[in-house]
Amino acid sequence: MYGTHFGLQELPFTITPDTSFFFAHSSHQEALNTLLVAVRSGEGFIKVIGEVGTGKTLLCRKFLAALDHQEFVTAYIPNPYLQPMTLLLACADELGIEYPQHVNQHQLLKLLSRYLIDSYAEGKRVLLCLDEAQAMPIETLESLRLLSNLETERRKLMQVVLFGQPELNIRLDNPSIRQLKQRITFSCQLSPLSFSEVEFYISHRLAVAGYRGPRLFPHKTVKQIYRASQGIPRLVNILAHKALMAAFGEGARVVLEKHVRIAVTDTESTSHTHTVGSRILKYLSALVSTVTIFVLLPLAPLTSGVSMITGGAV
Ligand SMILES: Nc1ncnc2c1ncn2[C@@H]1O[C@H](COP(=O)(O)OP(=O)(O)OP(=O)(O)O)[C@@H](O)[C@H]1O
Ligand SMILES: [Mg+2]
Repeated sequence: MYGTHFGLQELPFTITPDTSFFFAHSSHQEALNTLLVAVRSGEGFIKVIGEVGTGKTLLCRKFLAALDHQEFVTAYIPNPYLQPMTLLLACADELGIEYPQHVNQHQLLKLLSRYLIDSYAEGKRVLLCLDEAQAMPIETLESLRLLSNLETERRKLMQVVLFGQPELNIRLDNPSIRQLKQRITFSCQLSPLSFSEVEFYISHRLAVAGYRGPRLFPHKTVKQIYRASQGIPRLVNILAHKALMAAFGEGARVVLEKHVRIAVTDTESTSHTHTVGSRILKYLSALVSTVTIFVLLPLAPLTSGVSMITGGAV
């Protein structure tokens, strides 16, 4: 791999959401601040929406790591595509609650509420974070509301944070869970990186990976990456990684435009942005030839006549 070639201690552009690479760009920092304020309020549901690859899982990990664990007890469910009972079991497992082998829903809810009451008595707040929440079945979302209904006279016993792709909003529009929707007291939206953020993002990740040399991605190559990735961090990572591989393959010390072009062509989700221009050109030239044929067709006998006459004259 290219690590030693570029003087890196680790790979800078992996697609694992590793918190040590966290880059606090405006949208992420804002969302993190909102989350930290929202959990202090101890009320209702919190929702974080972001397109595929914008960093929801990373933000969730960063947020959980930023909490004071003397005060917060947290449960993280990475894939809540579960039936209501399985979700309750997953919560119990995450919180370390013991239950009998053939526990039923009623018993499980009782155990969970006992746990929440005890935690409250110890001055602890319980927080449930659900990643990929757009995949949750409606009945499971509804059971979540019932779980979060447990409260004292003063506050809720458990708070829930939903991280999901924009489809989560569509799911929440379902009239059968309007009560849950009404309880969302804080929500934030993760946006893609702007051009200058992509520039900082790339150098930030390189620096965390131990790069100390001169600029590795010249301005023009960042522009190419930004255009092809639309500022989606996961795509930026994939392109930057492949561009580094291409540069390394040629023994180059900096990434050149041709290296990024190779990366873009080689990447499913971005190669269309690379070829869109050529496709438009192809379409336009096909259109022009069709129009030309239709315009020139009626003139054809005339034109051939002219050439014949001309030919005869020569
Ligand atoms: N603010 C950031 N700082 C550093 N890296 C980031 C940031 N945001 C996203 N990334 C990187 O982008 C990649 C995708 O992030 P992540 O897996 O968190 O996205 P996601 O929104 O959860 O995607 P999906 O919708 O597919 O679940 C990861 O490699 C992650 O490290
Ligand atoms: Mg994710």
